[in-house]
Amino acid sequence: MLRTLLLAACAVAVPAQAQQPAWAWDDGTVPFVVTPMEIVERMLRMAEVGPGDMLIDLGSGDGRIVIEAAKRGARGLGVDLDPSLVKLATENARKAGVAGRARFETRDIFETDLSGASVVAFYLLPDFNAKLLPRLLKLKPGTRIVSHDGSIGAWPSDEKLEMRTPEKSVGLGGLSKVELWIVPADAAGRWTSDLGAHGGVWRFQVAQQFQVLDVNARAEGRDLLVRASRLRGEEIKLVVTGVVAGHAWHHLFAGRVSGDTINGELTLSDGNETRRVPWKAARER
Ligand SMILES: C[S@@+](CC[C@H](N)C(=O)[O-])C[C@H]1O[C@@H](n2cnc3c(N)ncnc32)[C@H](O)[C@@H]1O
Repeated sequence: MLRTLLLAACAVAVPAQAQQPAWAWDDGTVPFVVTPMEIVERMLRMAEVGPGDMLIDLGSGDGRIVIEAAKRGARGLGVDLDPSLVKLATENARKAGVAGRARFETRDIFETDLSGASVVAFYLLPDFNAKLLPRLLKLKPGTRIVSHDGSIGAWPSDEKLEMRTPEKSVGLGGLSKVELWIVPADAAGRWTSDLGAHGGVWRFQVAQQFQVLDVNARAEGRDLLVRASRLRGEEIKLVVTGVVAGHAWHHLFAGRVSGDTINGELTLSDGNETRRVPWKAARER
């Protein structure tokens, strides 16, 4: 605790260390510090953890994130370098009555297979998270990643919550940040869609960085305004608007990206009526 307080004081005095949380050891390793229960609750809620999920906590400490996930009906695996913490977490799961769904292993997070996870959780250092980034991005689209106090390199989060957490034993100001990332599908490229009476053949040129899309749409020989877009796992939404003969129109394309196909629905509105028609797009390779 004394060391933590000293490091916290140093972090105030030396702004250059602001990237590194005050509780990080000098050698860059992550000590055992618990996530307050209130924040565990927020993390699981944000990631919508429930039955059918498989949550992996990287650096599981006393097991609280995995145990709370198991109480919600999920299965969980916690890995930690420290065998005494793995023993403690296993015992805590038994006491909580969820030993059948909560497993703990002594393992390095960088040697942990994440492929079976539908949710990955952690409370680590930004440096660790950045190293995990390439592996996290390769997980199945739709996999949720939830972090307490730590961004993941340049990957912008899909959701963010910041709240005062007075009971927090480390850091400055008793603030906690919870962020959620949803592994995006690959939506980049040139997509074509035949909408028949609704503009004929449409072409969408999609540039993608993480889940952020930059889309150009073209139909009937004209460039169209793409007003908004969102990619959340496999779910894609595009809003294209225009004006014809003084009438404003609004198209909402909503579908799922699966390989080189998007299947979904187009909602057309012109202020007077709203219609829905199937939407299918194919990626040109
Ligand atoms: C800040 S604690 C978080 C504990 C728990 N996840 C929570 O939020 O309450 C980080 C944990 O990561 C573990 N850890 C640090 N480096 C690790 C590594 N390379 N592999 C596995 N565990 C590691 C530490 O032993 C510690 O228990």
